[in-house]
Formats: sequence, C-alpha cells, structure tokens
Amino acid sequence: MDVKVMKKKVLLGICGGIAAYKCCELVRLLKKAGHQVNVVMTQAATDFVSPTTFQALSGEPVLLDTHDAAGGNGMAHINLSRQTDVMLIAPASANTLAKIAHGMADNLLTTLVAARTCPLAVAPAMNVQMWNNPANQRNLALLRQDQIKILGPAVGEQACGETGSGRMLEAAELAELLADVWTLPVLAGKRVLITTGATFEAIDPVRGITNISSGQMGMALARACRAAGASVSLVYGQINTSVAAGLAYTEQAVSADSMLNAVERLLPQQDVFISVAAVADYKVKNRSVQKLKKQPGQAVPVIELTENADILATVAGRPDAPFCVGFAAESEHVLEHARAKRLKKGVPLLVANDVSQAMGKTTNQVILLDDEQETALPQMSKADTAAAIVERLAQLLP
Ligand code: CTP
Repeated sequence: MDVKVMKKKVLLGICGGIAAYKCCELVRLLKKAGHQVNVVMTQAATDFVSPTTFQALSGEPVLLDTHDAAGGNGMAHINLSRQTDVMLIAPASANTLAKIAHGMADNLLTTLVAARTCPLAVAPAMNVQMWNNPANQRNLALLRQDQIKILGPAVGEQACGETGSGRMLEAAELAELLADVWTLPVLAGKRVLITTGATFEAIDPVRGITNISSGQMGMALARACRAAGASVSLVYGQINTSVAAGLAYTEQAVSADSMLNAVERLLPQQDVFISVAAVADYKVKNRSVQKLKKQPGQAVPVIELTENADILATVAGRPDAPFCVGFAAESEHVLEHARAKRLKKGVPLLVANDVSQAMGKTTNQVILLDDEQETALPQMSKADTAAAIVERLAQLLP
C-alpha cells in the first residue's frame, strides 16, 4: 500500500482584518508540519501585521500588492500560482470573497486566485452582520459552486464586541483542515461513526478501572475520514489528545454502557462504524455510591466485576449493521488472535496491532485483515496509518 508524505507548497493570502494576527501562528504550524509557505498580503493586511513578521516566520520573501520584484519576471501571479499545491486565504474579507466570486483580479492576491491551477480554501473573518448579509451569502454560494472550500467561520465573540458567526477559525484548526483540501474524497457522502479512547468503570465516586489508551488512533481516523469527505460522528471516552476539528458530531461517553447507548442512538444514520475505543470488558458490580473509606485492620474491599456488552459485536450483529471496522489489541500471537477475533465479531475489516507498539504512542504498526487479503503496514505515524486504513476501507465499501 502506497503511503505518501504530505509536504506541500502552500500559498497563504492574507487580507486586511484583525484576525491576520492568527496567521503568525498558522505559518508557524504549517512550517512545523514540513510545508513550504509563501505569503501574499493585500495592502490592507499590512496595516495589521508587518510583512517582516511573515518573512521571518515563513523564511520566504513576502509578496505585496504591487508588481513585486520577488515575482521574478514581473509575472508573479503566474509564477507563484504554478509553484503552489494549495492556496489558502486567511483571513478572507467579505470584499475579497466578493471579488473572487465574480472573477475580479484587481490586486496580486485576487490575480493569483484567478490564475491558479491548484485548489483554493478560504477562511472568512468578518462581523456577524456582514457574514449574514444576503450579498455575502450569495457570494459564498458561488464560491462553493466553484469547488472553493470554505473553512469556518466559527461562532463566538468578535473583535467588534458583537457575538455570532464570522470569527476566523483558530490557527490550529486551519492547519488541520487545510490537509483535507489535497486529500482524495474517497469517502464523499459517507457517514462514519467512530469510538475512541479508554472507557472508565467507576468503583466509587473518585476511583475507577481504566486503561492506557490515549484515543490518538481513533482521532487520527476521525481526521482521515473527514479529510476523505465523510461526515464523521465521534464518541470518545477518556483521551489524552485534542478532539479533531470539523467533525459533524462529538460526544464524550466514558463508561462502556454510556458508550454503547451513544453508539446505538447515533447508529441508524451511519454507513460505517469504526470501533477503536479500548472498551473495558468488565464493569464493577458492587459500585459504591459513597467514597470507600480505608478501614485499617479489616478485610480489604473486594471489587466484584460483571461483563460489559461488546459494542462492536453488538453493532456488527444487527440486521441493519453498517460496514464495521474493528481493532484487535494483542500482546502476543497478533495475527492468530486477530483472525479469530475478526470471525468471532463478524467484521469485514479488522486492524490488528501489537499493544506494545501502539497504545499511548504516536506511531503504530498494524496489519489489515479482510476477506480478500492481509496487509502488513510499516511502522508509521498514526495519521499515516489512518490514511492507509481509509484507503482500504474505501475500496471495500459497497
Ligand atoms: N470492543 C468493543 N466492546 C468491548 C470490547 C471491545 O466494542 N466491550 C471492540 C474494540 O473497540 C475493538 C474490538 O472490539 O474494535 C476488539 O477489542 P480488543 O480489546 O482487542 O478485544 P476484546 O474483544 O476485548 O477481547 P480480548 O480482551 O479477549 O482480547
């Protein structure tokens, strides 16, 4: 299976708006992810952040709204747009969105957009009334028709003091969502439900039984499915990672029972169920309502366990089951146990991993087992592992 390293040439266009300050962090994050970043600023943008700042952060000359010498033969709009894999405009002002929607090219940024051959994403930032203005909404509809990806905006408090839709997404969200622009939409139109993280079974109000799962693999899968065009719902237990941006629905459910409830409630609308959560096989039968007190000299408390439902097997066994993907966390005889687990739970695709190589780590090494083949993937980041799982999932889906 072919795993690509996604280092891209990003052209970041910055319009005049207070959210331009967030682009300092955005450039830093994109550079940290290994991308090349070239910044183009409108004249108005330079009133908010100095080009020198972006030059220092990107390590590249910043192009301004003039026939900039950095463009080489005076054809900056052609040269730069040909050397770019993806273009992002952030913050995108109502004015620039209107110009792009109507094909206008009256400055370097809008000329680059008009002359581009690469995908374009825009991150709008404006006052709530400007966002809701019918003319602005008409322009956005035109941009969507032209396959321009609109990232955000978020709802919240605005620099002008009003509250509502129009806040630019945070730098970390934009850096994350930008990856979707160059991912093949192999899951377009599919609805995917994912569980991830560790469950927690209470012993008393302050103590419980849990495990070392961090939730990173399921979160990487949520991102990979979203990037591939799916509408993703996520139910997560205890996690030690941030929740992916741009998901259709998220809910925390920490006990196995509450996770099963959430899954069953969300299930009727799903095409795919991916069960990554490390679900406790047992819960506490004699759970104490009050905190257990230490009783020196007396017998130590006995914790009685009772079996939890198997969420994956329950879902896979339903007559209306979506396409199910399971994981197998094994500490020995990985392939042998995984083959048996796939058949026992009745799942068409199972991802087997050695817990010593996976749990709590940022990388993973897995084997994909389905009816047709068993594919051993190399040790790689959980993001790359997730992309490879999505690629196989898309091939297997009806
Ligand atoms: N799983 C589940 N509900 C459970 C237990 C497991 O949904 N109560 C799911 C996991 O999310 C995973 C798969 O079943 O997709 C296998 O989980 P794993 O922990 O590897 O195996 P178990 O079924 O718990 O079996 P064992 O502990 O014996 O290996």
